[in-house]
Amino acid sequence: MKTLDLKKNLAENGYFCNDDLALILSLSELLKKPVLLEGPAGVGKTELARAYAGATGRELIRLQCYEGLDERHALYEWNYQKQLLYLESRAKSSWEETKKDLFSEEFLLPRPLLKAFLSEKPAVLLIDEIDKSDEEFESFLLEALSDFAVSIPEHGTVRAKTVPMIFLTSNAMRDFSDALKRRCVHYYIDYPTKEQEVRILRSKLPALGEKLAGEIAAFAQKARKMKLSRAPGLAEVLDWAAVLCEIGIEELSDSRVGDTYHFLVKSREDFLRLKEDK
Ligand SMILES: Nc1ncnc2c1ncn2[C@@H]1O[C@H](COP(=O)(O)OP(=O)(O)O)[C@@H](O)[C@H]1O
Ligand SMILES: [Mg+2]
Repeated sequence: MKTLDLKKNLAENGYFCNDDLALILSLSELLKKPVLLEGPAGVGKTELARAYAGATGRELIRLQCYEGLDERHALYEWNYQKQLLYLESRAKSSWEETKKDLFSEEFLLPRPLLKAFLSEKPAVLLIDEIDKSDEEFESFLLEALSDFAVSIPEHGTVRAKTVPMIFLTSNAMRDFSDALKRRCVHYYIDYPTKEQEVRILRSKLPALGEKLAGEIAAFAQKARKMKLSRAPGLAEVLDWAAVLCEIGIEELSDSRVGDTYHFLVKSREDFLRLKEDK
């Protein structure tokens, strides 16, 4: 898809991005390169994959990473129940033949990665928060990311029927191997500029007036420079703005605003710092 069309389609799916990100996405798609999105929490990494699927009319298949995530959860499991039923029905056949049948595609339960590879139409595969998974999992991903193939010991190699557009996201909790980085296009998503944030706020919260939206965005920019223990991402700012709208605040100088910081920051220390700063 052309860069400008993509940017427009993403906006129609509720995602606002700048020209360089739209260009990177269309080139990655063209070169069949996975995109590694890094950046602080709440800047729209997950949302980008979701909007991209919407913008290109594809299915979004999501693999949420966590510590201890292994191939079984990412790739496939065998449908033991179905295998058992089959075994009972085939009690008299030779074992070699039965074994071959048992580990055929019919008895596979595809997990997200395999599901994306077996999809008839190219899907969007989101490998979310990969920095939470272990290094072994990262090594396992390498083959999948470059060859679009995965090995299943009992079955053999499965090649992708269609190549999905792959997004990997990371909050930069840890660094990745050179091998993984080499296979991906790296893009850092930073906090939005004030103008971008106003645009996003107003599109998600149509009831929010322009003046208050500007004040909220300026406040968010300031809060992010305050070295809080957890800087507010867009998700928190959106929640906060929705609350301010709900209670009928028209400007941030309103004395009730201080009590709403709970929606913006997530610790007592950060809350007190915002209050002191007022
Ligand atoms: N560029 C953007 N355009 C529109 N909405 C955005 C954008 N960036 C972030 N958001 C909003 O911010 C919220 C947090 O985004 P999310 O994707 O969960 O962040 P991350 O995955 O980076 O932690 C979402 O609700 C999303 O709607
Ligand atoms: Mg996310």
